[in-house]
Amino acid sequence: MTKWKTALRRTLAIVAAGCGVLVSGCADNGQNALHSKSPQSHDIEVLWWWMLGVASLVFLGACAMLIFGWWRRRTAGLPVVGEDEAVNMRLVVAFGIAIPVVILITLFLVANVAVIGATAAPKPGSTKMTIRVIGHDWWWEVRYPGHAAVTANEIHIPTRTRVNVVGTTGDVIHSLWVPELNRKIDLIPGRANRELLYADHPGVYRGQCAEFCGLQHAHMSLYVVAQEPAQFEAWLRDESRPALPSTARGRQLFLSTTCSSCHAIRGTSAKSDIGPDLTHVASRMSLAALTTGNSLAELLRWISDPQHVKPGAKMPALDLSQDDFRAIADYLRTLK
Ligand code: CUA
Repeated sequence: MTKWKTALRRTLAIVAAGCGVLVSGCADNGQNALHSKSPQSHDIEVLWWWMLGVASLVFLGACAMLIFGWWRRRTAGLPVVGEDEAVNMRLVVAFGIAIPVVILITLFLVANVAVIGATAAPKPGSTKMTIRVIGHDWWWEVRYPGHAAVTANEIHIPTRTRVNVVGTTGDVIHSLWVPELNRKIDLIPGRANRELLYADHPGVYRGQCAEFCGLQHAHMSLYVVAQEPAQFEAWLRDESRPALPSTARGRQLFLSTTCSSCHAIRGTSAKSDIGPDLTHVASRMSLAALTTGNSLAELLRWISDPQHVKPGAKMPALDLSQDDFRAIADYLRTLK
């Protein structure tokens, strides 16, 4: 086989592998900016396709001209072009200045006037409810002003309702991004940024911290759970209740060891807000900001060896027996 054929085969293999990697990013995990599920993300998606279309046209046009020029140079006997300076100058002005200026100004106006306006923070009084989201290394605290409910890594919202999200941070800069619902907002120390969340249909939409914030930045994800308004009201009522009384050994252990110096369980003496509120931890879909699921086995693994599950997380490894960890996990599993 000639050198050329080997090189061609290698190139094709690399392109195929690259396409495979790209396509794997298209998995529907609820976090796809091209699967818009709200009017805001729809506007962003349409803008993205238009930008891709225009950029592709320019790229392919430039490639076609290069190939055309290369072909002319290799073909003998064609009439010579480019000797008329005035024509050359007009081509340079048209393709090098006029067309790019028109395209860039049009895209700038569409993006900055139409799309940014449509996806901007909601005007005061234009929303039905406010939710506070506080970014922490590396998890999300979610509060519902006017209600006792405090949760972590899950923002529940009612469908077809404009929700005003006020984002702040407890430490460094984070960025809240739920691609299927809206663009991202940065959570900046000393500032409160706002964003509109709106979902047309019930569903679970995945979000991700979009600003590098340290070792576990990649494991700082969250879910937005959109529920029919009646279901949402029921959820908010449940979430606002304190934990039920219990005589479990795990409860005594939780309250007498380091657990209670970082976490709160409403209805008990544990009131710290350093780590997530655990009052209804068993009803959540994940642990440690979507790092693991929330089964008994996963919970046990997380509390007994947190630095293995999520290295660098603020959760320390406790010096307890497996029996004690199991008792705490059993108790936490009752917190529905
Ligand atoms: Cu928080 Cu990246």
